[in-house]
Amino acid sequence: MRCDQCSSEAVTLIRYNGSHLCAEHFRTYVEKRVKKEIRKQIDVHPGDTIAVAVSGGKDSMVTLHILDTVFGERKDISLCAISIDEGIKGYRPPSLDIVRDFCKERGIASCVRSFSEMDMEMDRIASVSGENSPCTYCGVFRRKLMNDQAREIGAKYLATGHNLDDMAQSIMMNFVRGDVERLARLGPHTKIQPGLIPRFHPLRLIPEKESLLYAIVAGIPFWDGECPYYMEALRNQYRDVVDQLEDRSPGSKFSILASYDTLKPMLAEHFPPSGLRLCSCGEPTLGERCKACELRSSLEKRIKGL
Ligand code: FES
Ligand code: ZN
Ligand code: ZN
Repeated sequence: MRCDQCSSEAVTLIRYNGSHLCAEHFRTYVEKRVKKEIRKQIDVHPGDTIAVAVSGGKDSMVTLHILDTVFGERKDISLCAISIDEGIKGYRPPSLDIVRDFCKERGIASCVRSFSEMDMEMDRIASVSGENSPCTYCGVFRRKLMNDQAREIGAKYLATGHNLDDMAQSIMMNFVRGDVERLARLGPHTKIQPGLIPRFHPLRLIPEKESLLYAIVAGIPFWDGECPYYMEALRNQYRDVVDQLEDRSPGSKFSILASYDTLKPMLAEHFPPSGLRLCSCGEPTLGERCKACELRSSLEKRIKGL
């Protein structure tokens, strides 16, 4: 099969629009859409710093790579990759090496925060996580450290690697659960809240398959190991549902996101951002204490009780 735009061999058929593209045209096709999203989602000015959440997986590495191609040359904008070491032997260290080497080669600032600074390494807490899945702790602690670090470096925005599949799954999940308020709070964030660095998602229009293919054809290194604490999560049900819809009607994932984008302004009006205060650890919170501090003290009790 030949590329629709040149005579080179096609590397992919984009099912939702029927086009065949070669490696070069596929790269341009992805980059164009990501750059457009970046322009749409953030408003940068000289002196701004953009933090990028980078785990070393394909999506975060592609996000970092494209942000670097957009802002890398600009001396007045700083990029900083933030990685989190959850304390998972054999899983996290190789991915951190990939991020470190990539950043060094490109001259991108990078830093690592660790669960160990909270004395909460995943290898230690996974066995005492009780009725909660280890991912619950992992997600909450990771978000806390990420936000904390982004705030510390004075970042104006925090980019994450969420792709179209992640977005469509989150939308469906919150719809089915009836969690409309959470639906209203999905990123990208447009309202500035004290202490909370607004997140944006350059890959939100890029299907997961395209993100993977892009990483391969662009020669971006990434880590694809699976976390040992990964469990069949509720989200996987939605992954299957969304994939089936897409299979039967190519373009469904885009439609889910487009419908959500149309509804979002109404949702935002209905659920204005609630007044956040600061937890004693410095994180913004709705109640007295942030979720990370709550989980941490329940874990400490459990560890002592063992
Ligand atoms: Fe959930 Fe690793 S702790 S995937
Ligand atoms: Zn081509
Ligand atoms: Zn706290």
